[in-house]
Amino acid sequence: MVETQKIEPANRKGNRRPAAATIGLDKISLQEKEKTPTGFEELDRVLGGGLVAGGVVLLAGEPGIGKSTLLLQMAACYSQRRQSVKNPRQVVFYVCGEESPSQIKLRANRLGFLGQNLMLLPETDVDAVIQSLEKEKPALVIVDSIQTMTTTCLAGSAGSVGQVRECAGRLISWAKGSQTPLFLVGHVTKEGAIAGPKILEHAVDTVIYFEGEPYGQIRLLRDTKNRFGPTGEVGILKMEEKGLAPVKEAAAAFLTPNGVYASGAARTMVLEGSRPLVLEIQAIVTPSYSPSPRRLAQGISWERLELMAAILQKHLRLPLYKEDVILNVAGGIRVEEPGIDLACCLALWSSYKNKVISPQTIAFGEVGLLGEVRPGREEERRIKEAKRLGYQEILSSGNIHSLTEAIGFLNQNGR
Ligand code: TYD
Ligand code: MG
Repeated sequence: MVETQKIEPANRKGNRRPAAATIGLDKISLQEKEKTPTGFEELDRVLGGGLVAGGVVLLAGEPGIGKSTLLLQMAACYSQRRQSVKNPRQVVFYVCGEESPSQIKLRANRLGFLGQNLMLLPETDVDAVIQSLEKEKPALVIVDSIQTMTTTCLAGSAGSVGQVRECAGRLISWAKGSQTPLFLVGHVTKEGAIAGPKILEHAVDTVIYFEGEPYGQIRLLRDTKNRFGPTGEVGILKMEEKGLAPVKEAAAAFLTPNGVYASGAARTMVLEGSRPLVLEIQAIVTPSYSPSPRRLAQGISWERLELMAAILQKHLRLPLYKEDVILNVAGGIRVEEPGIDLACCLALWSSYKNKVISPQTIAFGEVGLLGEVRPGREEERRIKEAKRLGYQEILSSGNIHSLTEAIGFLNQNGR
């Protein structure tokens, strides 16, 4: 059961207003909403240029991934830009429900940010927050995190579905009314928290996911929804001693520089927005001691792994029904596109046969149920990029037609 605020009938009547006037579709003129760059380039790229007046952005990610760091760096860039523009009094408001102001000061010191034009508001009561925003009229607001906000109008505790939804609703309507850009931070947990960012996705204008392995360095910033522009653009960042830095050679960012070359690995290329990324697919296939062997997938869906295993069993006659099968997309990112099918199949084959695939080989393409290899989106571009990066053997629908052909090639060239 989700708690909602009860509105008295009398009050409801008092709020009644006439319906909005209708407007002909052909009478509407389209104007691109003006975008203000934050000055933090990788974030601006994902936002499609910058912030929109009254636009609400949900920044979601696992705890420890770097959401607070990213937004503090963004605030630093933004306030420095603001200093040089007309109204220097305009400030960024950082509502800190998670951490104390001194903890944020420590982070700012680490980032070398003195904190000009950044006001901290250590408050978790959403109505008090809004009162303060109405009084101070900041230029930009960050709420870190939405799961710490509560309203006394509801009985539930912070982080419950009702509280998260209601508090976000109040902040969003304030942002729209005052035409102020607003960032909401939302935690995602591996176990899938009940009141995670999913319940807010429909209510905000833009949803950005921050992904990667919290203990690794590389992070991917990806928008899954944007009412003010196309989605699919990604930002690639590296968590360093002094905060997040853009990655220069982004295409190879997710590979371990001096990685081991063992059986069970295959390289592939995905296109994230306009960016090609080389990824390593890692697999372990070992005899199972359980009547129902394990299937574990990280970075792709479990159903896709099941599908790949079935294709290998049928067309390459690998008896995977008695093997435990584990597959991982190295680097902690999640891939939806089917262009990585071929590499997944090859990694599984490589582990089962204990044959190493050369790190100079890269494979991409969708694998169909008949074992055929089909071109993925923008295959030509991937081939061109793979050549630029120096890959010697490129396996794609351009030179192989089936999984069997790909294996034939590897058998000739493998170790
Ligand atoms: P944080 O922004 O607190 O994550 P979130 O808000 O998503 O929970 O950052 C988490 C990690 O980043 C933390 O373990 C420390 C690390 N970190 C760096 O490596 N370098 C830095 O400059 C900063 C500020 C943090
Ligand atoms: Mg945080």
